[in-house]
Amino acid sequence: MARTAVSDKVAGVLLAGGNGTRMLPLTRDRNKHLLPVHMRPMIDYALGTLLGMGLSDILVVTGRKHMGQVVDVLGSGAEYGAGVEFTYRVQDEARGIADALALARPFAAGRRLSVMLADNVLNDDTPRTALRAFAEAEPPHAVNFLTEVDDAAAYGVARLEDGRIVEILEKPAQPPSRLAVTGLYLYPTDAFDFIAGLTPSARGELEISDLNNHYARAGRLEHYVVRGWFDAGEPEPWARTCRYVQDHPECFGPDRFRLRVGP
Ligand code: G1P
Repeated sequence: MARTAVSDKVAGVLLAGGNGTRMLPLTRDRNKHLLPVHMRPMIDYALGTLLGMGLSDILVVTGRKHMGQVVDVLGSGAEYGAGVEFTYRVQDEARGIADALALARPFAAGRRLSVMLADNVLNDDTPRTALRAFAEAEPPHAVNFLTEVDDAAAYGVARLEDGRIVEILEKPAQPPSRLAVTGLYLYPTDAFDFIAGLTPSARGELEISDLNNHYARAGRLEHYVVRGWFDAGEPEPWARTCRYVQDHPECFGPDRFRLRVGP
């Protein structure tokens, strides 16, 4: 099977870099995204979301130290469905999510982008329908998926006015809302030009929130509110994610981790 129709328009990007310092010592010898979440490697869940959206052509970005392990686990893509193809790129140093995304430019080859952080788990079907609208939208816009949380200060947080995102604040001491920005993003092709103009934040990284703010300021940032979202990248939330997956076996059956084609 050739690429799916939506993959001709939108490139899938799975970001699995970083040093995993918040998960030490478990990440001493392995990539954070390969740690188990219930009965699967963490990375499978985000991959399952991209495949569930109908994307068959996916770039996986990870650090140089653990690229071999990641390739070992994921392979060519064939095990995830007919026509599924993974491409790999190395991010030499952990310089942030937007920096990792910049590596996708040649792979995208003019296509729009659907980007997911490999430590996120999302049990919601909204992205599938959202992707179809996004792929056709003219003029093109970016999309964030927000979710209501109790501990918004731990994430990027959306400030809304009249139902639209006007600003994203990265880990604000005083969150302007309870709406966290999840690690699933849709971008037009000009995202690469905006990333090229970003400067590192206080933590020395090119922040994905700075990219989102470019679109927010231009009135080009749409959003959906989703449920069933987890960021498994820190010890306590990771434990919470494992419990959730274990408690919802009906939502995480084998079909979830295969390419979903058709309407
Ligand atoms: C990153 C983003 C943040 C977002 C979060 C979602 O945070 O910077 O805006 O809310 O992912 O998982 P990080 O995991 O790099 O701390």
